[in-house]
Amino acid sequence: MSDKKPIILLSIESSCDDTSAAILKDGVVLSNCIANQEAHKLYGGVVPEVASRAHQKNIIPVVHMAIQKAGIDKKEITAIGFTRGPGLMGSLMVGVSYAKAFALAMNIPMIEVNHMQAHVLAHFAADPKPTFPFLCLTVSGGHTQIVLVKDYLDMEVLGTTIDDAAGEAFDKTGKILGLDYPAGPLIDKYAKLGSPIFKFPEPKIEGLNFSFSGLKTSILYFLKKELKTNPDFIKENLNDICASVQDRIVSILINKLKKAIEQTGVDSIAIAGGVSANSGLRNALTDLGKEQNLQTFIPEFQYCTDNAAMIGVTAYYKYLKKEFVGQDTVPVARMKL
Ligand code: KG4
Ligand code: ZN
Repeated sequence: MSDKKPIILLSIESSCDDTSAAILKDGVVLSNCIANQEAHKLYGGVVPEVASRAHQKNIIPVVHMAIQKAGIDKKEITAIGFTRGPGLMGSLMVGVSYAKAFALAMNIPMIEVNHMQAHVLAHFAADPKPTFPFLCLTVSGGHTQIVLVKDYLDMEVLGTTIDDAAGEAFDKTGKILGLDYPAGPLIDKYAKLGSPIFKFPEPKIEGLNFSFSGLKTSILYFLKKELKTNPDFIKENLNDICASVQDRIVSILINKLKKAIEQTGVDSIAIAGGVSANSGLRNALTDLGKEQNLQTFIPEFQYCTDNAAMIGVTAYYKYLKKEFVGQDTVPVARMKL
C-alpha cells in the first residue's frame, strides 16, 4: 500500500442561484451538497441581489455539511477550488471571498475554476467516463456551446449562442405559459404527457452557432393569436404546447451537434449543463448515438445542474498541474472558456 498523502479538495460553486460545496479525495467525489434558492420563484427569474444574500447565508452550513458527509476533518483538506466565473458578480464574490478566507486560515493553495469547463468535466465525476477527444453540447441557463474536448484542460468552443441560451428558451417560454421559474423541468414534465403537434420554425443560423430568440417570439405570437379565439388555449393545450416547444429546442440542438460530428469526425458525444437533465434531449442523444454508431455520455442528474462536484473535478486536474492562484484573484462575470 502506498503511504502517499491523498489529495483532498474542498470545492465551492456560487455562480448563480445554487450554493454548493463538495469534497473529493484523489478525484473521487465523497460529498456534493447543494442549497437551492426557492426565493426566485416569486420573481420568475434569478434576482442577483437576492441570490448574493442567500449565498452569504448558505455557504457556511453547506461547506460544513459537505465536510461532515465526506467523513473527513477540515485539517485534512489539501486545497480549495472555487468558481471564478462566468456568473453573477455578487454571487461569485461570495464564493471567491469564502475560498480566500478558507485558504488563508488553513494555509492551503487556491484553484480557480471556469464554470463552463466544469460543466464539461462533470462527466469525470462518475462512471462511465468519456475518452478524448469528444464533443460536448453544454446547455445551461446562461450558455449554449458545442465544445471539442481534447483533454481535461484543453477545450475549443466550436459554436455558441448568438442570443438566448437553451435554458433561457425553456425558462422564457415557461414565463409566457405562466409556469414557475425555472420552467425547464416543468416543461419537461408536461411534454411527457403531450405530443409535438404545433410546429415552430427552426432558425437558419450559419455554422455551429445557435439562436433561440426567434423561437421565443414565434411562440409568443402563436399563443397571442390562439388566445384571441380561445382564452383557455394554454390551459387546454399545455401538454402539447410543452411537447412542441421542447421538440423544437431539442431538434435545434441536435441538428447543430450532427453538423459538428460531420465537421470534426469525432465519434464520442456528450451533453452537460442544466438542460442536459431534459428527458427529450437525453433520449435524442441516445438515438443519435445508435443511429450513427457513436459513443454517448449523459451525466447523472445531480451533475447536470450547478454543483460543486464538477468544480472539484476541474480543480483536481488543475491541482495535478499545480495551477494555483493568489489572494489577489477576483471574480470574472464574463469569463471565456
Ligand atoms: O447549469 P444550470 O443549473 O445553471 C446555469 O449555469 O445556468 O442550468 C439551469 C438551467 C435552467 O434554465 C433550467 O430551466 C434548465 O437548466 N433545466 C432544464 C431541466 N432541468 C433544468 N431544462 C429543460 N429540462 C429540464 N429537465
Ligand atoms: Zn451552470
